[in-house]
Amino acid sequence: MTETSTPATSPADVRRVACVGAGVIGGGWVAHFLGRGYEVTAWDPAPDAEARLRRLVDAAWPALEQLGLAPGASPDRLTVSATLEEAVAEAQFVQESAPEKLDLKRELLARLDAATPPGVVIASSTSGYPMTDMQTEALSPGRLVVGHPFNPPYLIPLVEVAGGERTDPEAVRWAARFYEVAGKSVITMDREVPGFIANRLQEALWREALHMVAGGEATVRDIDLSITEGPGLRWAIMGPMLTFALAGGEGGMAHMLDHFGPSLKSPWTRLEAPELDKALYDAVVSGCDDAADGRTIADLVAERDRGVIAVLRATGRLPGSGAE
Ligand SMILES: NC(=O)c1ccc[n+]([C@@H]2O[C@H](COP(=O)([O-])OP(=O)(O)OC[C@H]3O[C@@H](n4cnc5c(N)ncnc54)[C@H](O)[C@@H]3O)[C@@H](O)[C@H]2O)c1
Repeated sequence: MTETSTPATSPADVRRVACVGAGVIGGGWVAHFLGRGYEVTAWDPAPDAEARLRRLVDAAWPALEQLGLAPGASPDRLTVSATLEEAVAEAQFVQESAPEKLDLKRELLARLDAATPPGVVIASSTSGYPMTDMQTEALSPGRLVVGHPFNPPYLIPLVEVAGGERTDPEAVRWAARFYEVAGKSVITMDREVPGFIANRLQEALWREALHMVAGGEATVRDIDLSITEGPGLRWAIMGPMLTFALAGGEGGMAHMLDHFGPSLKSPWTRLEAPELDKALYDAVVSGCDDAADGRTIADLVAERDRGVIAVLRATGRLPGSGAE
């Protein structure tokens, strides 16, 4: 890193984090950082953003308490700023979570770069834009990285970190270390993998699910049940690779590949994206209403949070849980 872009603070010494864009993901980041004891400033241009954000933090707080709050952690450490410039003025790390629109990200990252103290790393929550495409307008692109979270960021540990062509590799290392200190599990990519890693896998499943709904092969409920009562239970413990290795019995993955390799050529999948026409759109939306069975989004969020914590606890991934 050049001298002017060297991060001013070491990852372990960060105390003040700015979150710009405070919707589902930005709000989830705010909750996460508050739970880990950081001072958080947030900015979002929507008129109702502060009320929405505080509701999200309040709803997340019981889950954060169960996970174990850092000393001094409090929702009172959240300041909602009137301007973007004010939000980042004293930040030691910035997380951008604005809408997924390339032009908006480009302009916003340039504005953040201009307003944030030199050397402070700025991460984007983007679900899939390569940083190379987003850092085009910034004067110091070296400090811009992707830090891709999973919803909700206060519960799902993974963050995927990558730089763009003009990102300083030191900024990528710094961000990865910072996220680890802040309690996340990190995958660092040494290149711009399209869709990153986990989203690419999720996208394959999502496309197949939409094809099955569009073709009348499965209902929305069937699809959800097929994962929650099936492979999803295993995937919380092991990934798809080790899970399939066990499907090979004592012969492990080698036997699994010998046995099922030929079916790879069977026409099971249709990975081209289906046309998201009105019929498919309506079928998926009304199928979800039906599957919710009267539960509101707030009910489902609380249910999901309880469930993820129970899985994390049961698999020894929380401090003090049995299986460590
Ligand atoms: N929703 C997910 O599951 C998910 C998961 C991982 C990453 N992401 C990524 O996170 C980012 C945010 O997505 P979201 O789902 O939270 O969207 P969202 O619509 O819930 O929130 C976006 C927020 O950005 C605010 N906003 C609008 N214009 C802005 C601007 N110019 N500057 C700052 N804020 C602005 C909006 O008022 C809104 O509160 C996107 O890049 C998305 O791809 C989303």
